[in-house]
Amino acid sequence: MTLILRALQADITTLEVHALVNAANSSLLGGGGVDGAIHRAAGPQLLEACRQIGGCPTGEARITPGFRLPADYVVHTVGPVWRGGRAGEAALLAACYRNSLELAAAHGAESVAFPAISTGVYGYPPELAAPLALATVRAHAAGLRPLREVLFCCFSAADHQRYLALLDGADGG
Ligand code: APR
Repeated sequence: MTLILRALQADITTLEVHALVNAANSSLLGGGGVDGAIHRAAGPQLLEACRQIGGCPTGEARITPGFRLPADYVVHTVGPVWRGGRAGEAALLAACYRNSLELAAAHGAESVAFPAISTGVYGYPPELAAPLALATVRAHAAGLRPLREVLFCCFSAADHQRYLALLDGADGG
């Protein structure tokens, strides 16, 4: 089964995918950015489900139902805070993508949507995060049944162009 990778510009809370990934913080108790948007759209049951989990270390992922979201599941992952690039940030960001894919596939998800993890409040340079995200997903998702489609949900036009260029270049242009 060939894996479909796509980039789109959208509010991730509107996507009808089996699992959408949240760029959370280690408390899993909500925040701003995409975390805030997902909690607002999912409703208060999401926060209650996250409270039961009791937190998540950076680089790891935890899964909850999607509640009022169109997505069946939310995979909460905690990206690294950018500290200049020599504190293991790249390995932790790759782990976020890998662990999120594994958790979604383990729950039967065929489609997963990622935001640009860590590139907002956490300050990870988007031009470094995007190629790492794509390389990690490409290397890891192909063998994870029943995953069929991975969407890179960009919020800004700049991010969208960046992912499109990377996807186009990788396919031989
Ligand atoms: N849909 C898709 N992408 C979004 C949305 C949305 N509704 N809202 C924001 N984004 C994008 C941002 O533009 C950025 O590209 O998600 C990316 C990640 O940015 P943040 O949400 O700031 O996440 P991150 O950088 O990982 O920081 C996590 O921020 O919100 C808090 O609780 C969260 O403490 C945690 C920290």
